[in-house]
Amino acid sequence: MRNGCIGTKGGRLARHAVAALVLLLTVVAVTLGQSGASLAQQGTKEVPAAASPTHGMVPGNTLGTTSDSDFWRAVRQGADGKVSIPDKKAATLVQSEGELWRAVRNGPLALYASWALLAMIVILALFFAIRGRIRIEHGRSERTITRFVAVERFGHWLLATSFIILALTGLNVMYGRYVLLPIIGADAFGAVTAFGKYLHNYLAFAFMVGLVLIFLMWVRHNLPDRTDIKWILQAGGLFSKHLHPPAKKFNAGQKLIFWATVLVGLSISLSGWSLLFPYTTHFFGGTFEVMNSVFGTSLPTPLTVVQEQQLASLWHSIMSVLLICVIIGHIYIGSVGMEGAFDAMGSGEVDLNWAREHHSLWVEEVLARRKGAGAGATQAAE
Ligand code: HEM
Repeated sequence: MRNGCIGTKGGRLARHAVAALVLLLTVVAVTLGQSGASLAQQGTKEVPAAASPTHGMVPGNTLGTTSDSDFWRAVRQGADGKVSIPDKKAATLVQSEGELWRAVRNGPLALYASWALLAMIVILALFFAIRGRIRIEHGRSERTITRFVAVERFGHWLLATSFIILALTGLNVMYGRYVLLPIIGADAFGAVTAFGKYLHNYLAFAFMVGLVLIFLMWVRHNLPDRTDIKWILQAGGLFSKHLHPPAKKFNAGQKLIFWATVLVGLSISLSGWSLLFPYTTHFFGGTFEVMNSVFGTSLPTPLTVVQEQQLASLWHSIMSVLLICVIIGHIYIGSVGMEGAFDAMGSGEVDLNWAREHHSLWVEEVLARRKGAGAGATQAAE
């Protein structure tokens, strides 16, 4: 009886325990079923449904009815998930173009850019060895003529100093780890590069202001005209000591430098702006759209904000190296390459003989204007 009583009590306990277990298992099963169904609903076209990484679950299916490899392949190929945080970029787990960007930047871009810079320096060294310094053929007259007034020189030097520092700090980002790091060591390189980054970011604005100034001051002197043809046909007299093709304020070579500076400088500024204010611009997507509709190209549009950044970064480097090559040539001819040239941007006053040899039409213009002003002044005095 007692045993039976105990047995009855134990049996009831056991029955309750089994019922609780069944209930628990049912709840678990229903919950799992529901979450499976909701996972299936949430699955986008790109990500296999049952394996979507939502609800904090590890993706995959232990029963083997869905493929883990399909899931991860989709993720690897840039499939987007969903996020509820404001930063929607986080929905892309693997952005494959990033790898392409790195491969291009550290591979062909860095390689060909270094070749271009080296080639420019070698060409100038050869030119200097063969032609020597371009002298003032008739010697200095010791009479001068004003070439650039203070505001023009200010605009030029604002542009020039900012560009040189931007170029050096930019090249350090690209090549510093190979060139500077082994020489000055990791600590100094880290400090120099961090400081260089701030210089690069802030001096970008000085460069843009300089660019606008020289554009406004000099654009009217840089429009192409008939005198440029003769100058180009005679290669500017660069290869002959006695040839001085006529030119106005700027010759055809300088016009090329001017337009390269303005247009490539603008392109560097716009792509640099994208890098300064990440994820805010759509320059490439917009340009690709225009190109597709005008030229019938099939460039990818729309671009994600991350793709925009990657293209801006590559374009910024390519355009910068192009302009650095042009400016190396310009600095050469404006300093050691040609006697008397630096005075134009130094004091602003150039020797009359230098001016007659390189800008004869401009000298005539200035003298005629002076004569006219002199005659005007005499008439007014009378
Ligand atoms: C140490 C560096 C530099 C020196 C010695 C230098 C020298 C000169 C000189 C002497 C001129 C006047 C030429 C003339 O009288 O006809 C000039 C003009 C000019 N410079 Fe520079 N410059 C330097 C850097 C730069 C840089 C970095 C830029 C642009 C990023 C630049 C852009 C220009 C432009 C657009 C002109 C007018 C067009 C021309 O003459 O080629 N310069 N520079």
